[in-house]
Amino acid sequence: MTAGTGLTDVGRSELPTEIVLELESVDGGYGDLQVLYDLSLGLGEGEVVCLIGPNGAGKSTVLRTVFGLIEPWSGRVLLRGEEISGTAPEEVVRLGVGYVPQVKNVFGSLTVHENLQIGGTAREESEGVIADLYERFPLLAEKRGAKARSLSGGQRQVLALARALVMEPDVLLIDEPSAGLAPTVVEDVFESVRTVNELGTSVLMIEQNARAGLGISDRGYVLDQGTVKFAGDADEILDHPEVAELYLGG
Ligand SMILES: Nc1ncnc2c1ncn2[C@@H]1O[C@H](COP(=O)(O)OP(=O)(O)O)[C@@H](O)[C@H]1O
Ligand SMILES: [Mg+2]
Repeated sequence: MTAGTGLTDVGRSELPTEIVLELESVDGGYGDLQVLYDLSLGLGEGEVVCLIGPNGAGKSTVLRTVFGLIEPWSGRVLLRGEEISGTAPEEVVRLGVGYVPQVKNVFGSLTVHENLQIGGTAREESEGVIADLYERFPLLAEKRGAKARSLSGGQRQVLALARALVMEPDVLLIDEPSAGLAPTVVEDVFESVRTVNELGTSVLMIEQNARAGLGISDRGYVLDQGTVKFAGDADEILDHPEVAELYLGG
């Protein structure tokens, strides 16, 4: 327990031994605006880890920092122990990290198939990978010729996930996959995230729908005001009275 907050700060010793992605004491933000404060977190091989926390806590900024869309002011981002802080997104993709932003994650005027082809820019292997993805996500196969904008919200999210998978990432960053979806569809999208994980991809996911997100995750981090307020196993977070009251709506 940390004095004052009453919340546990879980140290690195409790992370899985095989860490694929790690942020180490990262400060960062936009222009003069500091958003991240001494933020440390890790993603273990094969894990699904969920970032939760209030609006404006800096969750999306964490993913943008990992993906190289913004550069940390200090601290380090490590991929399999190698520093990648400030590495450009194209290179981060090449190193095996995929990113599904919260919005504008598919091209509405292009077909499902064209979206997947663009996901695998200039890779010869793409058609084979796309064929495998159609098997994993049959709804995409059914809709392969349909414009992405004609898909339902849930189907579009699955397409966004699949697009990122064409590059066969071993780490996938997903920003609020359930945002704006009807409750009945949220489950389908989370099921797809599980499928992605079962195929061998470690997942760092943000979820506003915190209980449901933690429900499919191994571990979680509660972010508030740009720093980690609580870290632990997903069950531990779900069962923690104070965390539940503060961050899960009681
Ligand atoms: N492109 C940007 N330029 C300036 N400030 C930004 C930008 N994106 C986000 N912010 C600010 O950074 C803070 C954290 O935002 P964000 O990481 O999106 O939070 P969360 O995803 O937890 O809701 C907010 O105060 C937000 O207004
Ligand atoms: Mg966000």
